[in-house]
Amino acid sequence: MQTVTTLESLRQAVESLQRDGRVALVPTMGALHEGHLTLVREAKSRADAVAVSIFVNPTQFGPNEDLDAYPRQLEADSQALEAEGVALLWAPGVEVMYPQGFASSIRVSGVSEGLCGGSRPGHFDGVATVVCKLFNQVQPDIALFGEKDWQQLAVIRRMARDLDLTAPYADAIIGVPTVREQDGLAMSSRNAYLSAPDRAAAAVLPQEMRRAIAAIESGSAVAPTLAALAAHLLQAGFASVDYAVLADAASLEPLDTLGSEPARLLVAARIGTTRLIDNMGVGGPEIWSG
Ligand code: PAJ
Repeated sequence: MQTVTTLESLRQAVESLQRDGRVALVPTMGALHEGHLTLVREAKSRADAVAVSIFVNPTQFGPNEDLDAYPRQLEADSQALEAEGVALLWAPGVEVMYPQGFASSIRVSGVSEGLCGGSRPGHFDGVATVVCKLFNQVQPDIALFGEKDWQQLAVIRRMARDLDLTAPYADAIIGVPTVREQDGLAMSSRNAYLSAPDRAAAAVLPQEMRRAIAAIESGSAVAPTLAALAAHLLQAGFASVDYAVLADAASLEPLDTLGSEPARLLVAARIGTTRLIDNMGVGGPEIWSG
């Protein structure tokens, strides 16, 4: 595996990979876990070479968020990627990604606005801007993202289509199902922040989501079912619920009732000082049956 930290060496490395076939990009912020590594394995099965980026992107963190505390472990991450057969690790510093005087931003309206866009103003502008830069820098044939961050995936798909970032392939942005711990909690670098009791209580989130989905699928009214879901999370020890929403899976428009189009249940809730997000399909095939 080649590790590069400058745009010049990235360009050389990418050109040589592209000569040998299709290149897949897996963008990350590091602190890698099985969720990230599953993206890498999926990337390997779909391309000739895999490039992974590790960059803790300051522009997607709000002023009171965990930028400084965000786990950084480049050495361990690098070993894990090497073991997975990754060809290229792109690990730029902040000064490479955001040179002095940086003044541009990408805003994807509509799909960025509700849900996490409401509770984290500016977050998706930061994500869209850095992912656009990563696409321009690496120029991958395909890029893989986790369904764990469903709204992020929708924002990136919209941006890629709007700005012709990945033409001509309609399916260049690939979503990978959420990888979960044995008790159902979605894997996340932020799970490391949880105290032991909070970690145990956190498993209530996916359990309550599955319960709400079963109720909605068997005809219960959506609004009271979501209110009960939020109440159960607070009873289980969550500090607050940012949102618990049934939404159209593609547009993320909130739904009052389950229709014939694919729908998604999306939840963000805080436990201790940690904010957890999760989402699951409603009215379709279930991804996780654990
Ligand atoms: P990060 O949180 O490091 O996640 C990198 C990728 O791994 C994202 O596509 C995310 O959805 C995916 N991922 C995380 N946990 C997962 C899980 N349990 N199962 C499946 N996939 C999972 O998301 C980001 O970084 C950043 O916003 C980024 C896109 C890199 C832009 O800075």
